[in-house]
Amino acid sequence: MNRLLEDLSSNFRRTDTDSARHLWSCDDRTFLAAARPDPDWPRQYFGPAYAALADRFAGNPAARTQRDIDTIRTVIAEHLPARPRILDIPCGTGRHANALAAQGLEVTGLDLQPDYLRTARTEGSASYAAADMRALPVATASIDLVLNMWNSLGYFLNPADEAATLAEFRRVLRPGGMVLVQQDLDAPAALEGRWLQHMKAPLDDGAWLLVRQVPDASLGGLACLSWVVLPGQDPFQGPAFFLRLRDDAAWARDAQAAGFATVAIARTPPGVAPHETVVLLKA
Ligand SMILES: C[S@@+](CC[C@H](N)C(=O)[O-])C[C@H]1O[C@@H](n2cnc3c(N)ncnc32)[C@H](O)[C@@H]1O
Repeated sequence: MNRLLEDLSSNFRRTDTDSARHLWSCDDRTFLAAARPDPDWPRQYFGPAYAALADRFAGNPAARTQRDIDTIRTVIAEHLPARPRILDIPCGTGRHANALAAQGLEVTGLDLQPDYLRTARTEGSASYAAADMRALPVATASIDLVLNMWNSLGYFLNPADEAATLAEFRRVLRPGGMVLVQQDLDAPAALEGRWLQHMKAPLDDGAWLLVRQVPDASLGGLACLSWVVLPGQDPFQGPAFFLRLRDDAAWARDAQAAGFATVAIARTPPGVAPHETVVLLKA
């Protein structure tokens, strides 16, 4: 608990219970006015607090990672050379990159956060470097598979930054190479306001993570706020964050604009939980 408190204090801030309750239950317009993300929000949000929460969130993280690795291995077996060169961007603390490297694959992980890369390097044998996904320090046509795992695309408020990211993914791919984008949300449902808008997840030590995510038509995605509630204490509130949402038409449009030849989208059928979307873009 003390460690969680320390991590939270780094980039979440104490708020009072009444303010948090108000933002949790107010109407969408009021919420969206309060949850306006700063354009540079990822630098504020993805710090020690987020890393601590990601480890404690949504069941067994190791099982989730293993399920992702199975998906990645299936894509490699069906579409790519047996020993593909893989780029994991953004790699976070390296859970996918290190698992794939342990299987003998050549993987480079890139991320904005030097602290996450430090953790990644201590936990496995993949290569790592700091980079912004809009400008990859990677040679043109040198990669077979770009991985973008766990809701890691769609952070930029400016659509030009989104386009630059997809263009970079395309640039580094060899002919026939692929991008795999994995998300655990249903973007078309979220765009229509049919996706979970209030989420409560138990953390260990009796703490709770609460997330409110509301579609913002002016931004083209979900504007989100999160709180961590520790027993008997006022909550911590995280910086507002944003996730651009793409339905099938938006994927087709954006992939074509970035120079991809084909797009394939697999979504968990409606009503089946947990939801997952896997998008494959082929160079
Ligand atoms: C939701 S986490 C996912 C990390 C990893 N893919 C996983 O599944 O554990 C998103 C990551 O994106 C990184 N990030 C955010 N904006 C970035 C940017 N512009 N360029 C590179 N990495 C970025 C954050 O530092 C964070 O590690």
